[in-house]
Amino acid sequence: MMDWTDRHCRAFHRVLSRRALLYTEMVTANAVIHGDRARLLGYDASEHPVALQLGGSEPAALAEAARIGADLGYDEINLNVGCPSDRVQTGRFGACLMREPERVAACMAAISAAVRVPATVKCRIGVDDQDPEEALYGLVDLCAAAGVTRFTVHARKAWLQGLSAKENREIPPLDYPLVHRLKRDRPRLEIGINGGIATLDAALEQLAHVDGVMLGRAAYHDPALLGEVDRRVFGEAGRDVDPFEAVACYRPYMARQLEAGVPLSRMTRHMLGLFAGRPGARTWRRILTVESSVSGAGLEVLDRALAAVRAEQARTEDRRAAAGRLAVLA
Ligand SMILES: Cc1cc2nc3c(=O)[nH]c(=O)nc-3n(C[C@H](O)[C@H](O)[C@H](O)COP(=O)(O)O)c2cc1C
Repeated sequence: MMDWTDRHCRAFHRVLSRRALLYTEMVTANAVIHGDRARLLGYDASEHPVALQLGGSEPAALAEAARIGADLGYDEINLNVGCPSDRVQTGRFGACLMREPERVAACMAAISAAVRVPATVKCRIGVDDQDPEEALYGLVDLCAAAGVTRFTVHARKAWLQGLSAKENREIPPLDYPLVHRLKRDRPRLEIGINGGIATLDAALEQLAHVDGVMLGRAAYHDPALLGEVDRRVFGEAGRDVDPFEAVACYRPYMARQLEAGVPLSRMTRHMLGLFAGRPGARTWRRILTVESSVSGAGLEVLDRALAAVRAEQARTEDRRAAAGRLAVLA
C-alpha cells in the first residue's frame, strides 16, 4: 500500500508472522528502470517472502522492471490492475486496465517470460459500467492463457470518475460471491480475495471459498492480528506473537536502521496501531507520535512507551481483579 507498506513496515509485519506473504507498495516500471533503486527497491532479508508490485502497461518496460526485481531477490512480481488514482489513470495503468484485458495479458506474458518467480495479478471486479462477471472472467481467462496462475481480486469495482482513491476503497459495493464463483469455475487457478476483510475470523471464513486472503487496512491499523496468522491461518504449532514480543523482535532491526541514519519516526509510524483495542493503546500512540519526531530520538522513546503501556495494563488488571472480588462478595 502506497506510503504505508514501505520496507520498515514490512520488516515490522514480518516479526509478527513468518508465513504471511508481504507486498511492496506499487512501484512503476519506469521508476524501477530509471529511478533510485536502493530507495525504491531496497529491502531487508528478513522480509521474505515478499512480492514486488509493479505499475505499468508497457510489456517491455514491465518485463525489464520485473527482471530487475527478480534479480534483487523478490519472491513474486505482481501487476497492479486495481489502483484508481488519477495519476495512475493518466499513465493508463492500474484499475483502468480492466478495460484492456488483452494488454494486461500481454504484460503478464512479458513478465512471465522475463522471470522465474511467479508473475501474479491484483485486480478489481471491473470499472465503471462494466459487467463485473464479464470484466473479471475476461481478464482472468486471458491472463491464465498467458500463463498466470495466481490472482488477487479486490472484490469491488473501481469507479474511475468522481470518486477519490479512498472512496474507491469504501463506496463501490463488495461482491464476495462473484470471487467465490470464479474460484469454483476456475478451480485450477489460485484465487485470493481482498477488500473489507477486517478480522482473522472473517479471513478464515473466506478461506472456505478461496485460496488466499489479502489484508490491507486491517493489517496496517491492527498489526497485532498478524501475530495470530501463523497458527490460525497456516496451522503452525507454537505460540502467537504478542505485541510486546513483536517490539522486542523488531528492536534489533530498529537499532540497525537508526545506526544507518533512518529517523525513528520512519519506523514507529507503522507501529502506532500495535496495541489497538488494548489498554494503553492511546498512550502508546501518543508517546510514539510526539516523541519519535524529535530530532535524534532513539530507542529510549520505545522504552518509555512500552513502560507506560505496561503500567496501564497493570492498572487495568488490578481494577479487573478488584471488580471480580467485589462481584464475589456481592
Ligand atoms: C493507503 C493505501 C494505499 C494503497 N496502495 C495500494 C497499492 O500500492 N497497490 C495495491 O494493489 N493496492 C493498494 N491499496 C489498496 C489495498 O491493497 C486494498 O486493495 C484495499 O485497501 C482493500 O482492502 P482492505 O479492505 O483489506 O484494506 C492501498 C490502500 C491504502 C489504504
